[in-house]
Amino acid sequence: PLVLYNGCMLSGTYHFPRGFIWGTATSSHQVEGNNRNNDWTVWEEQPGRILNGDKAGQASGWWSGRWKDDLDRAVETGQNAHRLSIEWSRIQPTPDSWDEDAIEFYRQLLRGMQERKLMPYVTLHHFTSPLWVTEFGGWENPEVVEWFAAYTRKIVTALKEYCSLWVTINEPNVYWYSGYVLGVFPPGKQDIPAAFKVAVNLVKAHSAAYRIIHELQPNAQVGLAHNVQTITADRSWLPFDNWGAKIVSQAFNASFPDALRTGKLNMINHSARIPEAIGTQDYFGINYYTHSHFRFQPLNTKGLFHELQFRKDDLLSENGFIANKPLGFYRAIKWACQYGMPVYISENGVEDSKDTMRPRYLVEHIHQVWRAVNYNWPVKGYFHWSLIDNFEWERGWSQRFGLWGLDINTQARQRRPSVDIYQAICQENGIASEMIQRLVPDSYATIFPQ
Ligand code: BGC
Repeated sequence: PLVLYNGCMLSGTYHFPRGFIWGTATSSHQVEGNNRNNDWTVWEEQPGRILNGDKAGQASGWWSGRWKDDLDRAVETGQNAHRLSIEWSRIQPTPDSWDEDAIEFYRQLLRGMQERKLMPYVTLHHFTSPLWVTEFGGWENPEVVEWFAAYTRKIVTALKEYCSLWVTINEPNVYWYSGYVLGVFPPGKQDIPAAFKVAVNLVKAHSAAYRIIHELQPNAQVGLAHNVQTITADRSWLPFDNWGAKIVSQAFNASFPDALRTGKLNMINHSARIPEAIGTQDYFGINYYTHSHFRFQPLNTKGLFHELQFRKDDLLSENGFIANKPLGFYRAIKWACQYGMPVYISENGVEDSKDTMRPRYLVEHIHQVWRAVNYNWPVKGYFHWSLIDNFEWERGWSQRFGLWGLDINTQARQRRPSVDIYQAICQENGIASEMIQRLVPDSYATIFPQ
């Protein structure tokens, strides 16, 4: 309960349900280092693809064993889970070979999590694909469904002893949009028909993987991590902005989860029946970063006649990539709840090397999760992106999402102040007014309004 003290300040704690899951998230290519056999490695070699010509290189050194110290950091600061991904190109370096040493690496990693009492949450595909997949046409080739199914069978058989919460594919919407519409991810296409083929194959591959995982592990919980960006009209009086916001929202946010509910994938003027997709989601994974405004721009042919913008008074991250929009998070969770299944926040975070905005972003977003939970919406866990700075795709090392900073030359870690606040929340299993006053006073009035 909240009580008044000193005559004016409120004091109290917003608790989360017992057993709430608190973690961070990473992905293989972004933290492992030394990946040489996937499409991103080749992409990073090509001039102009990555900001400042950066490369993943050694990344955060997890392949050479630094995961141990980083997971110690997670557990020492009160976390009870971690989301990571398996690098397909390591498990299946060629179409007809499996690398048992690589499988053993992940077994050790998950065993290490078990020893630390960190619940594993494992993603099978997080943006990178083996080079041989790319050479055979990548995700445009319908055969990818079988390739992905075989890989799923192999790796889930090996790891099911340690993990029962799975993401088949991370952010299918970002994957097709970035790789086949914007062209900023490999294969760098701007080709809508190809993008649609990819979208269909992603849904089919997910559906096949869903069934295989359940066959191998009947009690598994299997889902996707959906990137949800809430989008509203920039000029609420302009019908074009309103329609546009709805259309883009439908295509970007709703098309994949709808396909898993109805068996029909609808994207603007493309549609396909995929009946095997029906019911292939046990929970809804939300990756939420920000809310934006749709502005119709008739002359912007390259940007499909629109731009997604932030407002002038928005609090923006270091590189202007993310606006602090906790209410958008609340709307995203509410929207996801209509699918009628448990919800995991599979990612949420902000790029901020100096940690000036992260403390606010962190507590104000977790506060919205608490509001949702308080309405009995079935949110089961929260995974902050990220535990440690890691390779930010086409933005290279220019964006730093870690609770811990990373010096890529020395591999030294730097504990950012946000660790203290996340630790306090995880250990309390709640947000206490005292911790907000002490550690994030700027957010006090928002979280504990008088
Ligand atoms: C991706 C992560 C990425 C993060 C921040 C998410 O869309 O899943 O891989 O690091 O955004 O850009």
